[in-house]
Amino acid sequence: MKKFLELISEEMGKAFAEAGYQADLGKVTISNRPDLCEYQCNGAMAGAKQYHKAPIMIANDVAEKLEGNAVFSEVSAVAPGFLNLKVAEKFVKEYLQGMRADEKFGLEMPRKPQMIIVDYGGPNIAKPLHVGHLRSAIIGESIKRICRYAGHKVLGDIHLGDWGLQMGLIATELKKRHPELPYFDENWQGEYPQEAPFTISELEEIYPAASAKSKEDADYKAEAMEATFQLQSGVPGMRALWKHIMEVSVTDLKKNYAALNVEFDLWKGESDVQDIIPGMVEKMKKDGYAHESDGALVVDVKEETDTKEIPPCMILKSDGASLYNTTDLATIVDRMDKYRPDKLIYMTDKRQDLYFEQVFRCARKTGLVEPETQLIHIGFGTMNGKDGKPFKTREGGVMRLENLIREINEEMYRKITDNREMEEEEAKETSRIVSLSAVKYGDLSNQASKDYIFDIDRFTSFEGDTGPYILYTIVRIKSILKKYEEQTYGESGSGQTENVTKSNNDSLAERTSLREAASESEKALMLEIAKFNAMLEAAYEEVAPHKICAYIYDLANAFNHFYHETKILTEEDKEKQSGWIALLILTRDVLEVCIDLLGFSAPDRM
Ligand code: ARG
Repeated sequence: MKKFLELISEEMGKAFAEAGYQADLGKVTISNRPDLCEYQCNGAMAGAKQYHKAPIMIANDVAEKLEGNAVFSEVSAVAPGFLNLKVAEKFVKEYLQGMRADEKFGLEMPRKPQMIIVDYGGPNIAKPLHVGHLRSAIIGESIKRICRYAGHKVLGDIHLGDWGLQMGLIATELKKRHPELPYFDENWQGEYPQEAPFTISELEEIYPAASAKSKEDADYKAEAMEATFQLQSGVPGMRALWKHIMEVSVTDLKKNYAALNVEFDLWKGESDVQDIIPGMVEKMKKDGYAHESDGALVVDVKEETDTKEIPPCMILKSDGASLYNTTDLATIVDRMDKYRPDKLIYMTDKRQDLYFEQVFRCARKTGLVEPETQLIHIGFGTMNGKDGKPFKTREGGVMRLENLIREINEEMYRKITDNREMEEEEAKETSRIVSLSAVKYGDLSNQASKDYIFDIDRFTSFEGDTGPYILYTIVRIKSILKKYEEQTYGESGSGQTENVTKSNNDSLAERTSLREAASESEKALMLEIAKFNAMLEAAYEEVAPHKICAYIYDLANAFNHFYHETKILTEEDKEKQSGWIALLILTRDVLEVCIDLLGFSAPDRM
């Protein structure tokens, strides 16, 4: 479906043309004086010079052509030459009917879907997830869902940090504690045990212990580096141990991400592309891109137009070891080879901005990607505490993700059980759902690149620009629909009020139809809904989930305003009432699709 503004601009353009002016002057925008009109067109002002006419004369000419027009119910030319507009109720109703009948509420699908890979999450094996990984997961998950909803083929890849020094550190510490394990016996001929020699909690204790020791003890560090080297060069005992670390960690990661409603299609990591590195490096040398500099191998990536210094991209260190860069480049090779992506989107802290600039330039220059492959890095800001400094625990340490989530769940549980009767089980599940909305909305409602303050009190509030407020609105709609169904079709109703989704249309949605708005608040709600496809297109193109948040906040406000002014359930005019019910269903459906794109869902009650 065409966008609402596009349609009314076209109509306006026709009027300009009929009056003898250029049609493209008819661009309509949302009014910046909502007290006067819904939309406005400033084309007469823009055309004044070209036509050597006072803007008001042009505006009058155009307004005249729009008399009796079916799209606009009000057109007024006002000094010095604005066209103030209101759209016809019938036109709005018909637009919403179109949305309702369309699976994607009027969002047009691409003619040629793109293949997109979203690289997000990026946890490091054996290291606990901390709040720094939270943003990558939340934003990445939403971007993945938005791209998919926009009609593209999308793969989310977690890109595990599973090949670094942390592995050698764990092996070293384990060897100190259990030297008898077969992994450390060079002459071991038998099979290695099936079971890992540690649990996740032991692993989580081993890593920080080893990391601390290596900082104080140079020999210990050297040993860990040697173990890392052994792993990377394929020593069987080290490989077997590494597999255990992977299994135990990945199981735990899956649990943690599932609790966040975050799902990856690919669980690949740095280790998966190690075999690609030698060939890739050889080619870069042979093609003359990589050259030696202070013993290291580098590719120059600076460009003449640079205004700041862009250092070369280092491919191999002087000891021949590969780096974070090297692995990212090899991963690009692997992805191009297996999936031919049109677009690669990476989600990391914005402190990696320069890093990705180097990697992308290097990939382009050395021909790892096609000239038209889009490489996008979304660098996000820091999540700060109320003191404006990076978020910490009360004791000042790095906050573990699990603990953060638990704290919010508990806070939400308190709120939900406060002066409300709810079974323990339901209260727990509801707190989980609502607190997830609090965390995710709190993050996503900010433009990703900005820092933001993580404020539990504000995020968990049921009022204001928060996730719980949006859910509260959805729950309110669900409850009205349920009551309506009970009073209209008897206690049991059709039993389909809940989860009436687009796929389950044999329901209330089918028995009701939209009507023309009878009040200002109803019309305002309808006009808000009508912005959906334009909003989503922008969220996709600009890779900007915060646009969805802004939209649903406005939509929820418009709905609540309408709700407070309208006695829906006691309305005697049944047809009118049924029209409202249809509008409520559409509002709920749009809101639910939007929160799904943000990565959370709504409970039935709260
Ligand atoms: N593991 C990295 C970290 O914790 C993030 C990985 C981001 N993705 C990438 N392709 N480099 O900082």
